[in-house]
Amino acid sequence: MPIISFAIQKGGSGKTTTVINLAAALQIQGKKILLVDADPQANLTQALGVSDKTEPNLFTEFKKEMEGKNTEGQSVIIKLAGGLHLIPSSIELAGAELELVSVYGREQLLSWILKPLEAQYDFIFIDCPPAIGMLTVNALVASRYVLMPLQAEFLPLKGVRSFMYHFSNVEKIKKKLGLQIDILGFILTKFDDHKKMNRDVCRQLEEEFGSKVFQTHIRTNIQLAKAQEAGVDIFSFDKHANGAIDYLQLSKEFLSKIE
Ligand SMILES: Nc1ncnc2c1ncn2[C@@H]1O[C@H](COP(=O)(O)OP(=O)(O)O)[C@@H](O)[C@H]1O
Ligand SMILES: [Mg+2]
Repeated sequence: MPIISFAIQKGGSGKTTTVINLAAALQIQGKKILLVDADPQANLTQALGVSDKTEPNLFTEFKKEMEGKNTEGQSVIIKLAGGLHLIPSSIELAGAELELVSVYGREQLLSWILKPLEAQYDFIFIDCPPAIGMLTVNALVASRYVLMPLQAEFLPLKGVRSFMYHFSNVEKIKKKLGLQIDILGFILTKFDDHKKMNRDVCRQLEEEFGSKVFQTHIRTNIQLAKAQEAGVDIFSFDKHANGAIDYLQLSKEFLSKIE
């Protein structure tokens, strides 16, 4: 089932928040989802109440693939109380990024790790680090779609354009492997309709990318940050918050785009 990367080379865009809460919204609607934390900062892992010292983790799996050993498969997956499944990250993953550069099949290791797990899930979401290094390239090579959460400001918009350049290179790699990747869409986060800058950037993005821009905007909502701190999704934390309403709406638009 489709693997989707959440990527943009900027921190604070709402990637991790979107991975958690879109997944939680889809899970409420009966979908089975695996989350993969591919960021050495392990924000996703910690925001789900899991220690970044947990083993096995994505780093230990990468290590095994690099050494040509069998990966853990099932036993790397943590089954969270709420029903979501997670492959955790660890700070050591930052080292893998460097080691990967000289490894055979270096762009495909994550594909190989996820392949045996794919059939069990409706969706696999990969939370990418805020840079386009080997980890993000691995995530994109493994993915059928990419989703780009971003703040509606001018700097992130520049980031989108430079991302598109890297993305076209990944597309070429994938084509050679007989694989396809598409941009599923752009999601505007921390959105405030009263801010002219937010409305202007939204309009520019729509002019450039048309219907790829999600109609649902995620409003700025402090409850989202608090839920993340508390190690839970917004629906468990405060199901009446604007953040919960927005992510539920986003999940419906997501399903209509993907189905
Ligand atoms: N819609 C929102 N409203 C308020 N705070 C948000 C919102 N989305 C994300 N945040 C907060 O902003 C910070 C960065 O978000 P995060 O999802 O971690 O971004 P990224 O993964 O792109 O670095 C976090 O502290 C998060 O809780
Ligand atoms: Mg993040």
